[in-house]
Amino acid sequence: MNFLTDQEQIIKEVLKQEGYEEEVSLKPNSKPELGEYQYNGIMSLAKKHGQNPLEVAKNIASKLQKINSFENVNVAGPGFLNITFSTSSLLEYLNQKQKEELVQKLPSKKIVIDYGGPNVAKVLHVGHLRSANIGESLKRLAKCLGMEVISDIHLGDYGLQMGMIMLEIQNRYPNLPCFEENFQGKTIPDFKITNEDLIDLYPIASKKAKENEEVMQQARNITYLFQNNHPGYKALWHAIIKVSLKDMKELYQRLCVDFDLWKGESDAEVFIPEMIEYLKQKQLIKESEGAQIIEVSNPEDKVSIPPLLLIKSNQTVSYETTDLATIWEREKSLHPDEIWYVADKRQELHFTQVFRAAKKSQIVKEDTKLEFIGFGTMNGIDGKPFKTREGGVMSLRNLLNIVKTSTEKNMIPSITGEERLKLADIIAVGTIKFADLLSHRNTDYIFDIDKFSDVNGKTGPFILYSTIRMKSLLEKAKEESNQELQFKKLKGKSDKRVLLETLKLQSVLESAFEQKSLHEITNYLYLLDNTYNNFYAENRILTEPDEELKQTWIAMTKYIYQINLLLLDILAIPIPPRM
Ligand code: ARG
Repeated sequence: MNFLTDQEQIIKEVLKQEGYEEEVSLKPNSKPELGEYQYNGIMSLAKKHGQNPLEVAKNIASKLQKINSFENVNVAGPGFLNITFSTSSLLEYLNQKQKEELVQKLPSKKIVIDYGGPNVAKVLHVGHLRSANIGESLKRLAKCLGMEVISDIHLGDYGLQMGMIMLEIQNRYPNLPCFEENFQGKTIPDFKITNEDLIDLYPIASKKAKENEEVMQQARNITYLFQNNHPGYKALWHAIIKVSLKDMKELYQRLCVDFDLWKGESDAEVFIPEMIEYLKQKQLIKESEGAQIIEVSNPEDKVSIPPLLLIKSNQTVSYETTDLATIWEREKSLHPDEIWYVADKRQELHFTQVFRAAKKSQIVKEDTKLEFIGFGTMNGIDGKPFKTREGGVMSLRNLLNIVKTSTEKNMIPSITGEERLKLADIIAVGTIKFADLLSHRNTDYIFDIDKFSDVNGKTGPFILYSTIRMKSLLEKAKEESNQELQFKKLKGKSDKRVLLETLKLQSVLESAFEQKSLHEITNYLYLLDNTYNNFYAENRILTEPDEELKQTWIAMTKYIYQINLLLLDILAIPIPPRM
């Protein structure tokens, strides 16, 4: 059940009785002093019938005025209808709604979401934060709206970076058993390299390869060898993945991000030969300067789309190929209706190529939706990509620690020791995530720590603080009475305003799902809590002498609290017990 849809239906009926067939959609009033909601459809409807809009509006308003659920309907301008709902019908609705699920489900689809995408043996940086954050929340949102969702981290574990790192390891530790001529083991005895070592190694390895073509050639060769199951390099590759994964899992857990599948680019390896065979039979592969390619351009393209590189001239497999083969595998094993990819918007061309190749070759069905969900960059206050003070890449761990330190400064002094650090960590996660989900995912934004940790601003700490306060009020209220709460009466504008905000929940969720961006949810949550806090500041809920009013306000607090829990869960923001 949905209050707004019901009211729209009522208006539609009235219009029908007056001879108009119209879909009706109500919008929150842009001038709240004139009414709570507005209906703007009269002008076009009157035009269609060659009538005077003002006359039509007046007539419809007078009919609506007689209906119980409307307290006031007035006409403004050339024919806008301003509507104020009657308090009694709103309360009646909320009493019913209390017994139902908060969210109405949409028709279910099976969706694979590919997000996170960290690269093995490389440091997780702020870009990976965005993919993990946005992806995790979209997954939860989709589930909440009734979708069947499978999440896959899709580790970057198959490319040239692995060859570079292995080469550097070989140069530093030539005596590791995996480099012996006839090494046949699956694991490497006494492998002591840690994730920190790997993270230090990678930039050095990559620099050396980029500066020296011979080194690059060696790295390519190693890439070719491990991709073709050379025992020593394959064992080393496994060892690196193992070390790197342990560290990643820990960090993702801290961020409340989790995946159904921890697969990687390399899992597509076994499907590549059969896929290539299939593509050959479809006569889609072309030879070009020693490489194998698939043409993916269309005559209608405004900018030309270069061909997809399937096998490079050095016979190694490209990033496009592993993505295409991953679609191949997902199609065979999961049959999804949709596959979503949450990645930096600069990767759009890559996905255009892969999606076109998948469609053209019929690796996926015509109606399987492949969707690229791009995001912008998180920048520092200088407007440039976020860097450490020394100018290095800002790692995710580093960012978390910086925000944790600034969070701790804002916490009340009475929380001390271990608990203080633990709570600061939880709040820091909320601070970062809320900020990261505040703008449309596609826009670049500036990460301003002071602004984002302000407990009075549009921030994670503000929402967490409000939520905790509601919880503590409810606990106190419970001590007094345990009866089932009813919405009985309202005092005036400020409590009604809070209840009116709750009506938007369903449409906010559906719109976020439609746009695949969380910004409407974070902004709505802020608006809701802000409206509630204004009411809270004006009233003393627990000492209110009017019992019916008091009960309504507690019921309202409980309802707002539940919406907070729901939305914070979608945003994957953990709630500290206190702050
Ligand atoms: N590993 C890639 C990177 O760090 C992102 C992966 C995106 N997902 C995908 N299926 N290609 O740039």
